[in-house]
Amino acid sequence: MENMHYLHQNLSGKIIVFTGGTDGMGKVAVQKLAAMGAKILLFGRIAAKTNLAISEIKSSSGNTDIHYIPCDLASQQSIRMAAERVTEQCPKIDLLINCVGMNAGERILTEDQMETSWAVNHLAPSIKPLTFKAFTSRGIGPYR
Ligand SMILES: NC(=O)c1ccc[n+]([C@@H]2O[C@H](COP(=O)([O-])OP(=O)(O)OC[C@H]3O[C@@H](n4cnc5c(N)ncnc54)[C@H](OP(=O)(O)O)[C@@H]3O)[C@@H](O)[C@H]2O)c1
Repeated sequence: MENMHYLHQNLSGKIIVFTGGTDGMGKVAVQKLAAMGAKILLFGRIAAKTNLAISEIKSSSGNTDIHYIPCDLASQQSIRMAAERVTEQCPKIDLLINCVGMNAGERILTEDQMETSWAVNHLAPSIKPLTFKAFTSRGIGPYR
């Protein structure tokens, strides 16, 4: 437990783009990062659900610097539009955290004719850094 000191780091001034933070493990992680003071751009595909998650995160963390970026990660066009919004809103990004994950359970094609689980779980995280000018303008930053 002595290695848990990083949970109390001050992240004010840091900008984090977060996918998969409207539910499950990702939402818990966003709450922790918000409590540490980071500005968070939260990707979400369902406006009502994402806005509700943001309200909960704001009230539990006391951090109001949490912002909604509409994005369906199954759609390459939606990812590109979201990336444009991010670059409009932020001159730089410090961290991109991909917690998005889903299992379609059957073969369903996206509008781009990709298998949905592959598109969301693998393709979306790998093309996002390339679409964020904030990353590419200074080389792709910390990314995993
Ligand atoms: N839970 C575990 O025990 C566990 C263990 C090991 C690994 N993992 C991995 O960790 C990740 C998260 O797991 P979880 O249990 O926290 O999952 P979860 O509760 O189902 O949350 C998944 C998140 O991904 C988002 N998402 C799914 N499809 C999307 C799309 N097309 N566009 C945008 N967002 C989308 C969901 O958004 P919506 O709000 O729109 O649904 C939600 O925020 C997954 O990759 C999972 O495989 C989980």
